[in-house]
Amino acid sequence: EDEADMVKRPPVVCVMGHVDHGKTSLLDAIRHSNVIDREAGGITQHIGASVVEVDGEKITFLDTPGHEAFTAMRMRGASSTDIAILVVAADDGVMPQTVEAINHAKAAGIEIIVAINKIDKPSANVERVKQELTEYELIPEDWGGSTIFVPVSAHTKEGIKELLEMVLLTAEVMELKANPNRAARGLVIEAQLDKGKGSVATVLVQKGTLHVGDAIAAGSAHGKVRAMMDDKGRRVKEAGPSQPVEILGLNDVPNAGEVFVGCETEKAARNFAETFIAQNKAKLLEETKSKMSLDDLF
Ligand code: GTP
Ligand code: NA
Ligand code: MG
Repeated sequence: EDEADMVKRPPVVCVMGHVDHGKTSLLDAIRHSNVIDREAGGITQHIGASVVEVDGEKITFLDTPGHEAFTAMRMRGASSTDIAILVVAADDGVMPQTVEAINHAKAAGIEIIVAINKIDKPSANVERVKQELTEYELIPEDWGGSTIFVPVSAHTKEGIKELLEMVLLTAEVMELKANPNRAARGLVIEAQLDKGKGSVATVLVQKGTLHVGDAIAAGSAHGKVRAMMDDKGRRVKEAGPSQPVEILGLNDVPNAGEVFVGCETEKAARNFAETFIAQNKAKLLEETKSKMSLDDLF
């Protein structure tokens, strides 16, 4: 790709950590929203995408589930992002899915920022969390390491401003860029069948720009973008790098984690999907099976 076509893009940040350590609450505090109240049993079961503007700079957040059943989603979350915010509850410390999240983030080669949450609790022990994380090579700067640690409280909002500043600072150093002037390419974050709308897919554009009317293929599905909604449910006509959008118009429900591509023609999109199906028969069968076992769980 020509360096001259590359322009600055917002960071994509994945919020990860053990179940109930406060990932969704932290995002609610950042967005001034109330997603946690609408979750069944207070358990996140999908990857939620949202865009926040801080000091005129955009940040795209992906919320991931902490429940042990959702390993694949955490892996996808990490592999589609630039930065992971590792949320660790100050009263609970490092737990199994904290370690799993660290491993996914390291495997994906992304930056880790540690948010030690729930510092408002009397039983909070920030120093103990720092100590525990040294075992995983996450060592705070004031202890001679290079990992950013920010003590926060989703409830009192203490530390949230600092956390966002650290995200922007880290992104600045990474010099994240993409070419918006090419066919769109990115990842399916999640997708489902809606009775009225048909196939509804949330996609993250990584390169290029996706427009209403574009031919598109996403894993085994193809079609033409009929309508697009941003993370606030507003209709948009186009979406550029690092932007998550919900799209209508695919003929089928693609699997989360699959690549999507904008195509020159609808025929090219259909070819892409058909080739994908031919090459991934075994994998598609496997994914159908794992979906069924998740349904059994909840
Ligand atoms: P999963 O997505 O299911 O893994 O959970 P989560 O990490 O998103 O945690 P969630 O936001 O659902 O919060 C779990 C519980 O911790 C809820 O009861 C929250 O109210 C509580 N909680 C979250 N953040 C804080 C905090 O800063 N302080 C206190 N005291 N409680 C918090
Ligand atoms: Na929860
Ligand atoms: Mg959650």
